[in-house]
Amino acid sequence: MKVWMPVLLAACAWALGAPASAQKFDGLAATPQMGWNSWNTFACDINEQLIRDTADVMVKSGLKDAGYVYVNIDDCWHGKRDAKGVIHPDPERFPSGMKALADYVHGKGLKLGIYSDVGATTCGGRPGSRGHEYQDAITYAEWGIDYIKYDWCDSKGLNSVGAYTTMRDAIRSAGRPMLFSICEWGDTRPWEWAKDVGHSWRTTGDIYPCWDCEFSQGPFSSWGVMRILDKQAGLRQYAGPGHWNDMDMLEVGKGMTDDEDRAHFSAWAMLASPLILGNDVRKMSAATHRTLTSTDAIAINQDPLGIPAWRFVHTGDVEYWAKPLANGEWALMILNRGTAAAPVSFDWQQHYVNDDLNKRTADFKKTVFGWTDVWGGRTGDTSRKFDAKVPAHGVVLLRLRTKV
Ligand code: GLA
Repeated sequence: MKVWMPVLLAACAWALGAPASAQKFDGLAATPQMGWNSWNTFACDINEQLIRDTADVMVKSGLKDAGYVYVNIDDCWHGKRDAKGVIHPDPERFPSGMKALADYVHGKGLKLGIYSDVGATTCGGRPGSRGHEYQDAITYAEWGIDYIKYDWCDSKGLNSVGAYTTMRDAIRSAGRPMLFSICEWGDTRPWEWAKDVGHSWRTTGDIYPCWDCEFSQGPFSSWGVMRILDKQAGLRQYAGPGHWNDMDMLEVGKGMTDDEDRAHFSAWAMLASPLILGNDVRKMSAATHRTLTSTDAIAINQDPLGIPAWRFVHTGDVEYWAKPLANGEWALMILNRGTAAAPVSFDWQQHYVNDDLNKRTADFKKTVFGWTDVWGGRTGDTSRKFDAKVPAHGVVLLRLRTKV
């Protein structure tokens, strides 16, 4: 009997139980994802009440209205696998179960995220998804999960592309759109292979709430915000709508100065990183709240073009970064890495900002832009020099508009 080849292939794919060509869910991260994650403040000390309270505060404080919609539970929510291999949450910390928690979070108009790992154990020593990928994806889908952060601990001998693609396919076959956040620390250059696998990929090891330190955690180091910024060199070409370079979760409100926090937030906004809060939002200072809800800074991050900034000039401690925005507009960040305030005088007429990669140019001789100083509140236009004092370990962030 002759069997037509495509029919045979389709039958084989069906028999293997996998979709012929699985894909990530499209449209989940047209702009960088925004939300909150438990790890940076709480590490393993989490429970369902904390998640509920956080969801409440995200609504009441205006964070949700500012765009932060994901409430992400990081490591250590896990209990045990049962006899059939099904994972359950820790019964003491999450006694109502994940479905009830997802219902609660959804009831607030927010979305719920969860964490797992490619290996048999997570970084916190809890059960990972290795060998249970399809089962876990189905469980998460049944709970109503919207976001999966997938870590890289206990991955010895695993091929990263294979391990993350397996989970992508598992999510697809579970059928619920869940944003897939790859957390592989940049070890195997995920920017080169993860565009069709996940919606974002961590580019570095973990962040640490300091300006420019390397903090030793024993076998590995965590990095201050300037260290992480420097590790983004050469990566801007890989990110865009639906696939982002993830510079790790924010440390705003975690002990740096307000100027440092604003610089940190501005840099993450300029480079189009996901904006995932890492502070205890129940106890935010007014300054932290103001930084995190800046409409202009968030608009720069969420610009629909999704083009990350690049550094176009630097002199000593002062650097100039530019980000093309939709409709021929621009954002400009003047970063001062130094420990003393830096007076700057920027003559627009002397500068021609040219993004070769994306074929976008700001020619200040031809076009006059109006600017808003995002943190300082001043306004002006590019027909006159821009004079400012950039705070120590700080930034001036400008949003340029074509209508003066
Ligand atoms: C890794 C990740 C962190 C966090 C912890 C949890 O270090 O990079 O973001 O998820 O694991 O154990």
